[in-house]
Amino acid sequence: MSNIRAVRGMHDILPDETPHWQLLEQTVSRVLSGYGYGEIRLPVVEKTELFSRSIGEVTDIVEREMYSFEDRNGDSLTLRPEGTAGCVRAAIQQGLLSVPQRLWYMGPMFRYERPQKGRQRQFQQVGAEAFGIAGPEMEAEHLVLCARLWRELGLAQNVELQLNSLGNAEARRNYRDALVGYLESHLEALDEDSQRRLLTNPLRILDSKVADTRQILDEAPLMADFLDDESRADFDRLCKLLDAAGVPFVVNNRLVRGLDYYNKTVYEWVTERLGAQGTICGGGRYDGLVEQLGGKSTPAVGFAMGMERLVLMLQDSGSAATTGVGSTDVYAVAVGEAANRTALATVEAVRDALPQLTIVQHTGGGSFKSQLKRADKSGATVALIWGEDEVSSQSVTLKFLRDGSAQGDKSGQKTVPVEQLESTLQAAFAD
Ligand code: HAM
Repeated sequence: MSNIRAVRGMHDILPDETPHWQLLEQTVSRVLSGYGYGEIRLPVVEKTELFSRSIGEVTDIVEREMYSFEDRNGDSLTLRPEGTAGCVRAAIQQGLLSVPQRLWYMGPMFRYERPQKGRQRQFQQVGAEAFGIAGPEMEAEHLVLCARLWRELGLAQNVELQLNSLGNAEARRNYRDALVGYLESHLEALDEDSQRRLLTNPLRILDSKVADTRQILDEAPLMADFLDDESRADFDRLCKLLDAAGVPFVVNNRLVRGLDYYNKTVYEWVTERLGAQGTICGGGRYDGLVEQLGGKSTPAVGFAMGMERLVLMLQDSGSAATTGVGSTDVYAVAVGEAANRTALATVEAVRDALPQLTIVQHTGGGSFKSQLKRADKSGATVALIWGEDEVSSQSVTLKFLRDGSAQGDKSGQKTVPVEQLESTLQAAFAD
């Protein structure tokens, strides 16, 4: 019978990778709560309509990337492809929007995309959404927060912030008409995908990677020339705030983002370290979405980052996350029933007293020799040994597996009364 394998684009994250994930999760949660953001945990499944109404009917995500299905009741449900829609739904439903609100979330998202490095069908995002603040200080807060995260993760050298403003709905409509007018005069030369988008979502053509299309876009009308006064003023203020905070950025007039709910500022943090999938974080303002989903008109700004991409960068940068987490300090070995009982109870007491140590207790029996071999393989610094002698004399033998002669006898061993075990271990791991 053939083995059952994981679904394409959905990955196992193995123990040697999880230290980087833990580092990322801990850093993100510490930084976000330090800025006053509260964590919200949201369902993975929502009504399909939530996403089509918010992300937009003619976006790639809604048109062809959603995992949608009917439940037994005949309702159309979807595995969430992103977190903003669910967060807004919850904020309205739970009455969280009467005061400015800062929320963050983390969890798996699902998109039926073509898998490649940095692009999965199940991937993790961490996102933050802030509701109730109309001015660009809000975007500035998110951007300095992200910049702090990159610094704390040691990634700041390799990321670039790109900013753009999409303007208000009218400005976007005017720009869209101008862009369509221009591109229609070059219809034949456009790639097939862009020809299709010209009818459905022309602003997305600005994102095209096709060389010929890009060349045509070089002469296209510029979004910046169509901005309404308020959006332009907000964007200028944001740029000044970022200058003052020392956050470098470049203005990218072609940046449009793949979701329809944005207005005014949009941004992406990009890196050259990951090949084609170089966007590690994207976000912007979406002042219309709360109302569009049935709430009271509420300004809103948010971002989300792709955690797999950040983990790839952490691995690539040789981050020290692998030391400390998950590595074994002490390996406990016992032969015989009485020794096993004593070892189990004593190791529990050591765990109470010295919670900073990682202690693995041998399981599955075997001779001293085979158990000590395992102890050595585990990478532990010290093996604790219980046999008949130790049980009867209420002692325990420590074997120093790395620099034995410094701490034990010739064979790196030392037997101590069990009451001295904790202090001996404390001394052994003092630095
Ligand atoms: P997004 O640009 O679609 O925005 O996704 C945000 C980030 O998630 C991307 O920059 C990327 O790092 C990561 N990502 C997206 N798709 C994949 C994938 N298939 N595999 C791996 N990583 C991926 C949003 O989702 C918006 N909800 C962001 C937002 C929050 N805007 C306002 N608030």
